[in-house]
Amino acid sequence: MTQTTPNAAQSGTFKIGGDLSVNRLGFGAMRITGEGVWGDPADREGALATLRRLPDLGVNFIDTADSYGPAVSEELIREALHPYDTVVVATKAGLTRTGPDVWIPVGRPEYLKQQAYISRRRLGVERIDLWQLHRIDRHVPQDEQFGAIRELIDEGVIRHAGLSEVSVEEIEAARRVFPVATVQNLYNLANRKSEDVLDHCEREGIGFIPWYPLAAGRLAQEGSVLTEIAGRLGATPSQVALAWVLRRSPVMLPIPGTGKVGHLEENVAAASLTLSDEDFTALDEVGRQEWERQQAARR
Ligand SMILES: NC(=O)c1ccc[n+]([C@@H]2O[C@H](COP(=O)([O-])OP(=O)(O)OC[C@H]3O[C@@H](n4cnc5c(N)ncnc54)[C@H](OP(=O)(O)O)[C@@H]3O)[C@@H](O)[C@H]2O)c1
Repeated sequence: MTQTTPNAAQSGTFKIGGDLSVNRLGFGAMRITGEGVWGDPADREGALATLRRLPDLGVNFIDTADSYGPAVSEELIREALHPYDTVVVATKAGLTRTGPDVWIPVGRPEYLKQQAYISRRRLGVERIDLWQLHRIDRHVPQDEQFGAIRELIDEGVIRHAGLSEVSVEEIEAARRVFPVATVQNLYNLANRKSEDVLDHCEREGIGFIPWYPLAAGRLAQEGSVLTEIAGRLGATPSQVALAWVLRRSPVMLPIPGTGKVGHLEENVAAASLTLSDEDFTALDEVGRQEWERQQAARR
């Protein structure tokens, strides 16, 4: 790969909600917290340096949540980047935390609204550019959760709204209450559970934010199609996996996360990695096979 400073602008742009333009390759701020996404990061200065490096690398879309830490991720983002200038900070709520790696959905409308007010204050903004419902709470009527989001938009607390870990039916149910600007589901080369959701988002112009985008699982093993292509392009398997995700759809907004400047630079460099049609198709094929193999192993 070329040795010039990587820039996320090379991934192209997407307009969230039709009017909020971001470079497609973003940053996930879950990894700038402690073990189990709990408490302070082991390397606080490294986390702040990673965040401060984002604008230099053209990364202007950051994903966080009230529950990362909790509060730690939003606080560090404010410390490093406020007043943000050109950076869009997207946050989420709807998952509560009682310990490391523990995530419990709470979708009571009054709670969702409270958390949006708190995030707005913690981030130091007048209006949150993009706020996403982290999980639909199965114990609370869906429309009450969507209604809270509608109110947050109407009150000017949030500009755009999105959902996370949802089906096509849930997206459409939500769209009857508020405009869904983004959907954030688990998706990567080897996890294709959300193919139908991604296709739906592409058709409807909804931004699709794949979380865990770097993962390739067994596909990254020595001698695989992925490592062969990576070797030939002078890139790492993670970079090729990310380049594949970016090329998969124009509505794709991957948010690889790290607390290390070196890893960030490596990830952003994937924005300038161009896959040939043959390589894209070959990766698509092995990714689907791996996903089907995983499904069969579960049955
Ligand atoms: N909506 C949801 O339910 C949901 C769930 C999970 C995550 N998310 C969001 O999605 C973002 C990304 O998801 P994710 O963090 O699970 O997955 P990811 O970004 O694909 O992978 C992150 C992991 O890979 C490592 N890493 C990153 N860059 C690397 C590199 N260049 N070389 C080697 N290792 C590297 C990181 O560790 P180091 O820190 O050591 O680099 C970390 O362990 C999160 O930050 C969060 O914003 C959303």
